[in-house]
Amino acid sequence: MYPLQTERPYALNQWYVAAWSHEVGRTIFERKILGQSLVFYRTQAGKPIAMDNACPHRRYALSNGRLEGDDIECAYHGFKFNGNGKCVHVPQQDKIPAAFVTRTYPLVECWQWVWIWMGDPDKADPSLIPDSKWFKDKEPGWRGFAGAVDLLKARYMLLHENLLDLSHLGFLHARNIGTPRVAQSAVEFEVRSDHMALWRNVNSDEFENQPLGKLMGVKGLVDRVMEQQFFAPNLHITGPAFYSAREGGVNPGQSFGAFRVFHGITPETPTTTHYFWGCSRNFEIEDNELDNIMRKFLRGVVDEDIEASETIERLITTGGTLVPEISAISDGAGLRGRRIMQSLIEKDLG
Ligand code: FES
Ligand SMILES: [Fe+2]
Repeated sequence: MYPLQTERPYALNQWYVAAWSHEVGRTIFERKILGQSLVFYRTQAGKPIAMDNACPHRRYALSNGRLEGDDIECAYHGFKFNGNGKCVHVPQQDKIPAAFVTRTYPLVECWQWVWIWMGDPDKADPSLIPDSKWFKDKEPGWRGFAGAVDLLKARYMLLHENLLDLSHLGFLHARNIGTPRVAQSAVEFEVRSDHMALWRNVNSDEFENQPLGKLMGVKGLVDRVMEQQFFAPNLHITGPAFYSAREGGVNPGQSFGAFRVFHGITPETPTTTHYFWGCSRNFEIEDNELDNIMRKFLRGVVDEDIEASETIERLITTGGTLVPEISAISDGAGLRGRRIMQSLIEKDLG
C-alpha cells in the first residue's frame, strides 16, 4: 500500500500506543486499533484490559455493555466476560463451555501510555517497548505533560514521513516554530540497534520573536540542536535544544532550555491514524500553567501536520497516485523509514 511497496497495511508483531493511561478507567470505551474494534477498561485493582469489542455470542458491541466488578456484561443477552476474556455467566444455563472465550490483548503501561500488542501473544515481549529513559520521566530537571490523541483521516505512513523530514518546519510551521534556516540545514541520520537517530544543527538563527522563543525567554540569535529518534513502527521523539548562538549570540553557549515531543502513531485502519502526542521540558518545571500554554502551542503545530497529512491522503485516495514522486536529498531519512517499516511487515510474513 503506497507509500509502502506491500499490500499488507501494517506490522502486527509490534507494540503500539493504544491509549493514554488516564483514558483507561472504570468506564468502558471503544477504539479501533490496526483495523480491530476493541474495548478498554480497568479492573478494580487497576489493571488495564483490552478485548475484542464484538461479543462472541451475536457480535453486539461490548462497548455498549456495563462493568460488574471486573467483568463486562453484554447489553444484548447478558453474557458476562472476565478480564481474561473467559465467559463467566450465561443467563438460562449453568454450564459454560470452555470455548466461550473472547480474545484479550497484552497491554503494558509505559510513560503515560498504554501500549498494546496486536500480533501473536507469545511474542509480546515488554522489553521491546522503547526504554522509559527516552521519556526523561524520572530524570531530575524534566517535567512531562500529556498532550492529546487525535484521529487523522490519513494513513500512518504520511505522519511518519512528516516527522522524518523536519525541513517542513521552515514552511508548514513558519508561523510558530520553524525558520527558513531549519529547512536549509542538512540532516544526518544513522540506523542503530533499536531506533533510527537523526540530528541537525541550525546555527545563528532568529527565534526570539517566535511564540516559543518568547515562552523560553530567548534573547538574540540562537543555535538550535535538533535531535530525534524513530522507534519503528510506532514512536518518534523530536527534541530541540536552544542555546545563545556561539556566533552572534548575546551570551554564547547559554542554554535557553530543551524539550522532547513524543509522537505515538498507531494505525486505526489502513487510511486512518491515531496520533498520541505529549511533551517533556527542562525549563520552568514548577510552572503548571506553562503545561497548558505549551499544550496549546503544540496543538497549533500538530494541527498543521494533520492538515498536511489529510490533504495528501485526499489527493492520493481520490486523485490516484498518477503524479510520480520526486525525492530530494532531504528525503533520505524518510525513504529509509519506509524501508524499515516495510521490512517489519515482511518479517511478520516470515
Ligand atoms: S450478543 Fe452479547 S450476549 Fe448476545
Ligand atoms: Fe510538523
